[in-house]
Amino acid sequence: MSDTAMPSRTSGCPVAHGALSAERTPTGCPVSQRAAEFDPFEDGYQQDPPEYVRWAREQEPIFYSPKLGYWVITRYDDIKAVFRDNLTFSPSNALEKITPTGEEANAVLASYGFALNRTLVNEDEPAHMPRRRALMDPFTPEALKHHEPLVRELARSYVDRFIDDGRADLVDQMLWEIPLTVALHFLGVPEEDMDTLRKYSIAHTVNTWGRPKPEEQVAVAHAVGNFWQYAGKVLDKMRQDPDAPGWMQYGIRKQMQHPEVVTDSYLHSMMMAGIVAAHETTANATANAVKLLLQHPQVWQELCDDPGLIPNAVEECLRHNGSVAAWRRLVTKDTQVGGVDLPAGSRLLIVTSSANHDEGHFADADLFDIRRDNASDHLTFGYGSHQCMGKNLARMEMQIFLEEFTRRLPHMRLSEQRFSYVPNTSFRGPEHLWVEWDPRANPERADAGLRDVQVPVRIGEPSAHAIARPVVVERVTPVADGIVRLRLVSPDGKPLPRWTPGSHIDVECGTPELSRQYSLCGDPDEAHALEIAVLHEPEGRGGSAWVHGNVKVGDRLRIRGPRNHFRLDESLAKAIFIAGGIGITPVSAMARRAKALGMDYELHYSGRSRASMAFVDELAALHGGRLHVHAADEGRRNDLRALLAAPVPGAQVYACGPLRMLEALEDCCAAWPEGALRVEHFESTLATLDPSKEHAFEVELKDSGLVITVPPDQTLLTALRAANVDVQSDCEEGLCGSCEVRVLAGKVDHRDVVLTRSERDANTKMMACCSRACEGRLVLEL
Ligand code: HEM
Ligand code: FES
Repeated sequence: MSDTAMPSRTSGCPVAHGALSAERTPTGCPVSQRAAEFDPFEDGYQQDPPEYVRWAREQEPIFYSPKLGYWVITRYDDIKAVFRDNLTFSPSNALEKITPTGEEANAVLASYGFALNRTLVNEDEPAHMPRRRALMDPFTPEALKHHEPLVRELARSYVDRFIDDGRADLVDQMLWEIPLTVALHFLGVPEEDMDTLRKYSIAHTVNTWGRPKPEEQVAVAHAVGNFWQYAGKVLDKMRQDPDAPGWMQYGIRKQMQHPEVVTDSYLHSMMMAGIVAAHETTANATANAVKLLLQHPQVWQELCDDPGLIPNAVEECLRHNGSVAAWRRLVTKDTQVGGVDLPAGSRLLIVTSSANHDEGHFADADLFDIRRDNASDHLTFGYGSHQCMGKNLARMEMQIFLEEFTRRLPHMRLSEQRFSYVPNTSFRGPEHLWVEWDPRANPERADAGLRDVQVPVRIGEPSAHAIARPVVVERVTPVADGIVRLRLVSPDGKPLPRWTPGSHIDVECGTPELSRQYSLCGDPDEAHALEIAVLHEPEGRGGSAWVHGNVKVGDRLRIRGPRNHFRLDESLAKAIFIAGGIGITPVSAMARRAKALGMDYELHYSGRSRASMAFVDELAALHGGRLHVHAADEGRRNDLRALLAAPVPGAQVYACGPLRMLEALEDCCAAWPEGALRVEHFESTLATLDPSKEHAFEVELKDSGLVITVPPDQTLLTALRAANVDVQSDCEEGLCGSCEVRVLAGKVDHRDVVLTRSERDANTKMMACCSRACEGRLVLEL
């Protein structure tokens, strides 16, 4: 943005509603008292932006701030809608100075020829997307792998410097410098210029997002002017050696092919803005994360015990306390957001940190929960066609820092201190972060090899698969021939996650590679324990044999979940539960719930013999005449065909048991309404690809403006991730529904078991982990 195109600060409501009123209205016009008082440069916002605008999120989600001259947007859905439409909501003001500077400072900047202009983040279409596409390759997870050794080595050597001191300011002594060094390497800046650029970068933040006092403005302007000129010189140097590694050199090479896409003005501006984009965001994000984790010592301990939790913890830190608190957009035509009229020319402050605490999207949003399964839905990286290109580099750095700290300094704690922030609307992180520990207790003193432990980093968004939870076996009870019931509790006696009937957990049977799913069969109202029943299957893949052969009272196990792919519709008129053998586990929890709800239900339970059937007495006591036991050795087989001969209006059938039984049920329910039969699948081959039978297809991503090709040997999910597009996933086998994406056009070859027939026919959503295109191109809302 050129220096002349600065926002004029409005002193009142931009819409003609008369004088300011103390009365709040839901539209924010006339400006309410709290809206009039809103000041993002105040300490309240600086310390905790989502808390500072809680009132707005709850009562007046979109309001006009006369002090700032901006409309402020605070809810998740509204902010996502703004990000999604980059034509109506132009990003052109993203790097504008939020506080206009005085004439003297402007003259200083002009004297340096300062002309910071469009880069990517503030570029409009149609210029932006071709440029983004041209410059994307160095950011893909594949390309980023090359930067991992540097980040790891830097992190290790910086920790070496202070590990014996017992005290450090992590910001000054590590977190400020490493992301800057990584950013400079990523950009391709020659070593000899790094120190100078390091010095200048902070001035740019204050100049753009801060409110420098008039007496500071001139000094800031000099620093920014110098930064600008220096960036130009470095760029000239890079042009001499365009084949050197680095994103800027990549851009220089692209300019040779497409000078109209990668312009001179872009390269010079990006040389300056790129450093800030990659540096402060990541430094601040890590400082925020370490602070938040150490403020929750128990969570910190869990990370130290199980580094597999780190990738999701990074996302939860970015959600709960990210380093970008708010972003900006400019309204290009009269429009509405969340029912509020926004005239063309309105400036928007979209408080992404507030969206990240929106109860409408994140359950118990203020809770810091590193196992939260939708943590990576946060908007700290923005969303849509401008979403942060460097997000996976940032995630990698943050993971590595946390891995190094948790392994080498697990006994680290926060020192007493008051945190200060550089006052600005957007970039947020403590200026200092003092931590302390007892160096005599450094684990490396007992085991020097610990310093150099190899840890593989996961590049990209974390998978729910990685989120493990330790539990202790409280009881092991034989409940039938070859079946044991395990009662699991949390090691600290705290409540375990809540679950609903039909849920299962994954149990690591000795090693993380041998993970098996077991349905929960206890009482969901019992918050302190989870119960599963395990049938010994000598011909199985080893999970049940391990449980039967090894598990004793007092053992620690690692589980994942609970997750539910087999939900009971609680509004049903009637439920028919059908269980075969060990399939009774989820069904027993569902039947208990049906009884508690006062629902009409019947429970059919079949097995070889009563002795081999778990819980028969318990079930009889609870369900009385509603329970029908079909023991084969008593000659009482379950005649499914007779049972389901005629569809029962408003009823659903829930079944779990051997595959043969489930297949027979499909057959018996052919005349029932679609979706009436609900079946629990434990294993599936839905996501297994045979490339010789598949064809490649194209997907157009509407929100991100990308077109990608999914080759025959890749799932859509893998292809999306390789293109840096985040999609949640859990089972990755077409069972759970967590990878659902919205389909706007094209015919889908559905392969999951989640969607009903009519949902498939409607063709408005698909599971990215297994489903593909029938032919031609799919258009997705991503
Ligand atoms: C854009 C945040 C790290 C490069 C953005 C945007 C945000 C953001 C909010 C604007 C998104 C939008 O308008 O939808 C962050 C955070 C980071 C981080 C919180 C660290 C935790 C990085 C790194 C790099 C980077 C390490 C580079 C190596 C970019 C670029 C864009 C961008 C090039 C512009 C993309 C476009 O407009 O097409 N980032 N960023 N960022 N970021 Fe990041
Ligand atoms: Fe579970 Fe795709 S990840 S259905």
